[in-house]
Amino acid sequence: MDAKLQRRVQRYGWDKAAAHYERYWARQLEPAQALLLKYAALSPGERVLDIAAGSGLVTLKAADAVGPAGAVVATDISEQMVDLLRANAAERGHAHLTVERMEAEQLRFPDASFDVVLCALGLMYVTDPAASVSEMFRVLKPGGRMVAAVWGARADCGWAEIFPIVERRVASEVCPLFFQLGGGDALRWTLEGAGFTDVAVERISTTLDYADGDEACGAAFAGGPVALAYARFDEPTVAEAHAEYLASIEAHRHGAGYAVPGEFVVARGRRAAGR
Ligand SMILES: C[S@@+](CC[C@H](N)C(=O)[O-])C[C@H]1O[C@@H](n2cnc3c(N)ncnc32)[C@H](O)[C@@H]1O
Repeated sequence: MDAKLQRRVQRYGWDKAAAHYERYWARQLEPAQALLLKYAALSPGERVLDIAAGSGLVTLKAADAVGPAGAVVATDISEQMVDLLRANAAERGHAHLTVERMEAEQLRFPDASFDVVLCALGLMYVTDPAASVSEMFRVLKPGGRMVAAVWGARADCGWAEIFPIVERRVASEVCPLFFQLGGGDALRWTLEGAGFTDVAVERISTTLDYADGDEACGAAFAGGPVALAYARFDEPTVAEAHAEYLASIEAHRHGAGYAVPGEFVVARGRRAAGR
């Protein structure tokens, strides 16, 4: 895997997806984000870092929870996501929320500078998940806590064919590590490997509901991580890729709509006091 290329695919892909992201994904990701925030148990006055924050679906709730006596710093690799999140924060008058374009692999923050680190549905895209989780550990204060959510096992995510369908048409891997953390105990081991203690992991089953094939294709192709490759498809390639994707989720079709199964994994850990 060419890490630099992968980061470009993510950065510019999410730039393209940003305008469509909330329409397609806000409702579908809510169960994982709600569990992540419950695990985080944020208190007024805390200092929180939200990594790969996207448009701010988690960040804005974190900012409400810590209040103006606290602070939330959000980071994301995509400039368009950063702009969207800044606009969303300004609209809510959240002066204690700041946003920076930054890669999760290398955080530009001093050691021990946050009470809580969050990462909702972001670790599947980073080029070195272990390094990113180590960075989360580094920037946490001793006694601080982290919560991360990822998509679960490939076999339990009915939409997983989206990646090979796109990759066959661009001659490169679009999200090579996407399911790496979702299977077995991989997320637990990654947290423990970075030094986290009191690690707890929960799997939740979910269903992605789409009113019709257009909505299912919009979410999979335009609203997510394959958006850069997709933007370069010509019309016949778009039609062919849509047809192939819909065939891959045909078993989950109910009339015009689709109910595609999925799975999330949410994990929490603590940086022990004195470490
Ligand atoms: C599925 S979205 C999740 C956004 C948000 N956390 C949420 O729960 O709605 C994934 C985000 O990860 C960001 N991302 C991808 N690779 C990244 C990296 N290497 N470093 C930082 N952010 C990254 C993308 O730009 C995108 O905004």
